[in-house]
Amino acid sequence: MTMITATAPAKTILFGEHAVVYGYPAIAIPISSHTATATVVQNTERLSGIHIIAPDIAKVLKIETLQPDQLDDALSLTVYLVLQHFKITQQPPLDITVRSNIPPASGLGSGAAVSTAIAKALIKALEQSITIEALNQLVFEVEKIHHGTPSGIDNTVIVYEQPIYYVRNQPIELLTINQPFALLIADTGCPAPTKIAVDDVRKLYNKDYAGIHPFLENIGNICIQGKQALEDGNTIKLGDLMNQNHKLLRQLTVSSEELDNLVDGAMQAGALGAKLSGGGRGGNMIALIKDEQEQIVMSALKQAGAAQVFKLLLPSKSSE
Ligand code: PMV
Repeated sequence: MTMITATAPAKTILFGEHAVVYGYPAIAIPISSHTATATVVQNTERLSGIHIIAPDIAKVLKIETLQPDQLDDALSLTVYLVLQHFKITQQPPLDITVRSNIPPASGLGSGAAVSTAIAKALIKALEQSITIEALNQLVFEVEKIHHGTPSGIDNTVIVYEQPIYYVRNQPIELLTINQPFALLIADTGCPAPTKIAVDDVRKLYNKDYAGIHPFLENIGNICIQGKQALEDGNTIKLGDLMNQNHKLLRQLTVSSEELDNLVDGAMQAGALGAKLSGGGRGGNMIALIKDEQEQIVMSALKQAGAAQVFKLLLPSKSSE
């Protein structure tokens, strides 16, 4: 067997995070400049057993020694679910090396990208094939480790590698972006596990349904308008909606001082709109800019404390 490699992109959420958990729509976009990569080779020094080597987190996981009830890490669970899907009981001697340049716990979908890359590479190495729907379902199962009650948006945008308009338990709608536009994506440098933010919103929701429900509903409405603005190529409207979405996320308590500083910094430098993206409490934010504003908004974001900033140019239409 020659070396087999598969990749999966990062993602960002343009509208609708958190509300999407409650059945409202959200829009997510893949980021192809940041990827997780899995490489599979046959290990000739052993007769059987799959090992996962993750140099970024200095871990080697030996899958053959794990019992199903010990599968509490996402990487091992991914391999286990692939083997289970194809009813493979005898593990071939394979080494899967996984690397990622997506910062973890920062709203860019690092967990789903790593699982997707591992699953795709292993399936190829096992000379099997899987439908995109089944792969999406498999990665969704793994996402439960990261998120507890994931909406499914991360795995879907990452597995399909296309902009999506996503409503939980509804058919996936691939989005057409008619007018190219640019985002700056800035990292607070503060990792924040999505699960905690999602759990906290759930507690608020359970405690004060009447108070919290309107925020979620408003986020859903903003997302519907955001889809229209994307279709119309109306960047002014898009920016305004992003600002409104950020305010509502603040009210849901999922922003942070660092995120607010970056949002304010981008807006003061003339961005068309800015919001946190993903689970919040840290991680990344996005700022919508006109192309010519790149340098000034990028400097403002760094000044406001961004640890990393990069630009994402959105395609004029979804790649088929
Ligand atoms: O993985 P993150 O941090 O981008 O969060 C995903 C978006 C949430 O709505 C917060 C959670 C979910 O499962 O949809």
